[in-house]
Amino acid sequence: MPQCLIRGLRSIELTATNLDEATRFYEGVWGLTPIERRNDAIYFRGTARYHHVLGLHRGAQPAVIRIVFDVADRAAVEALHRAVAASGCSATAPGPVALAGGGFGFGCKDPDGRNLAFVAGAADHADGADRADKPRKIVHVNLNAANHDATLGFFTGTLGFRVVDDNAPLTFLHCANADHCSIVLANTQLPTLNHIAFEVPDFDSVMRGMGRLKDNGYPIEWGPGRHGPGNNVFAYFCGPDEVPLEYAAEVLQIDDGYQPHGSDYWKYKPGRSEQWGLTAPRSARYYRVQRLFGFTADGERVN
Ligand SMILES: [Fe+2]
Repeated sequence: MPQCLIRGLRSIELTATNLDEATRFYEGVWGLTPIERRNDAIYFRGTARYHHVLGLHRGAQPAVIRIVFDVADRAAVEALHRAVAASGCSATAPGPVALAGGGFGFGCKDPDGRNLAFVAGAADHADGADRADKPRKIVHVNLNAANHDATLGFFTGTLGFRVVDDNAPLTFLHCANADHCSIVLANTQLPTLNHIAFEVPDFDSVMRGMGRLKDNGYPIEWGPGRHGPGNNVFAYFCGPDEVPLEYAAEVLQIDDGYQPHGSDYWKYKPGRSEQWGLTAPRSARYYRVQRLFGFTADGERVN
């Protein structure tokens, strides 16, 4: 297995059919901070140092434009690029990045046609302290996989992720940080987004976040609960354009000694969908939107 050169998730970029409404939500309700506006686009940071964690681009159809991963330096970007090119997936040449925050990087399409980018040396912030109730960063993105075996092979064999747990249809993938997983693949025969999980500082931030979303007309679609793999406290919502979002706290921190488990180990008692046994299963609406969001055709180029 190759050494993993990916240190985490920097950001995700989405289209927004109503940019003003989405901006009000992500700033006023979800808890991010706008830091840069461009023509028909706005970028938000969390409390971690990443230049931004979310980019919204005005668009006619709800979609994911790209997922951007954090890489240590130019040499690591170039090594990743060689691996991706050797895999047969299409990739742009490494170079200065034209996205907000800049840096050096490249884009590619994974075996399901999702746009991924890998960036080092972006203009990150000097401050990174927690703030009560405010998201730090994206802690994981869950992707539905149409070509599951090819996608899993790409993330592990080419990008160097390690499989840390299986709970069918989910496979949990760990990269070079302490978080249990940064990518989850859902074997659901679709090339779409399953959900985006934002990490908040603690349990109370999840609970107060649930109240805040409820107050603002965004019902709780699943939760509160505690997942098996990753052990995090969770609550799920549908954001603007019904984008599937999660607040997550107390994510299990692991090292190379972590022993993965399979689906039999993680199976819940009948009637349960998480460890506590308090929440009802996810709503029908959430189940539906966890399949909807495709990736744009044109999001590969980042230079
Ligand atoms: Fe999640």
